[in-house]
Amino acid sequence: MRKLILIPVFTTILFSCGGGDKNDKPAEPGTNESTETSSEDLSDNPVYKKGLALVGSNDCLTCHRVDELLTGPSYRDIANKYGSMSDTIISHLAGKIIAGGNGVWGDVFMTPHAGLSKEDAEAMVEYILLLKNK
Ligand code: HEC
Repeated sequence: MRKLILIPVFTTILFSCGGGDKNDKPAEPGTNESTETSSEDLSDNPVYKKGLALVGSNDCLTCHRVDELLTGPSYRDIANKYGSMSDTIISHLAGKIIAGGNGVWGDVFMTPHAGLSKEDAEAMVEYILLLKNK
């Protein structure tokens, strides 16, 4: 244990005797904080929170998961397909959720969601598109 304590002391002495300002050393250990993932960042995003809540309170999750193919395509796949398109895609996809339909991902039908407002459907699409891989 003693040796461990002495090491920093010696290093300090070495540097202070050097006379010059040679302190351009790499950052101290423990200052490496740039490793947060993007999904953690999303949890603070109001668009993400609102859409997630809506998706959870409708029947979407019986057919969709974020990363799994169920009856419907995964939200990640949907986001990767449409996420780079212009904003008009939001209205288009919201309309598709309300009307239901098939033919884009396969023969399976998405049930219509006639009771859904366009506004809520768009909020869900915005949430889904946030899941796009960077
Ligand atoms: C009965 C199962 C089912 C339910 C419930 C369901 N979906 Fe789907 N969804 C599908 C299927 C199947 C497709 C693929 C349709 C196709 O190939 O055109 C799809 C496609 C989509 C797409 C992409 C549409 C396209 O044209 O590419 C979005 C966005 C979507 N669903 C969102 C939702 C949301 C939001 C909800 C909840 C309100 C929901 N879905 C509920 C089965 C479902």
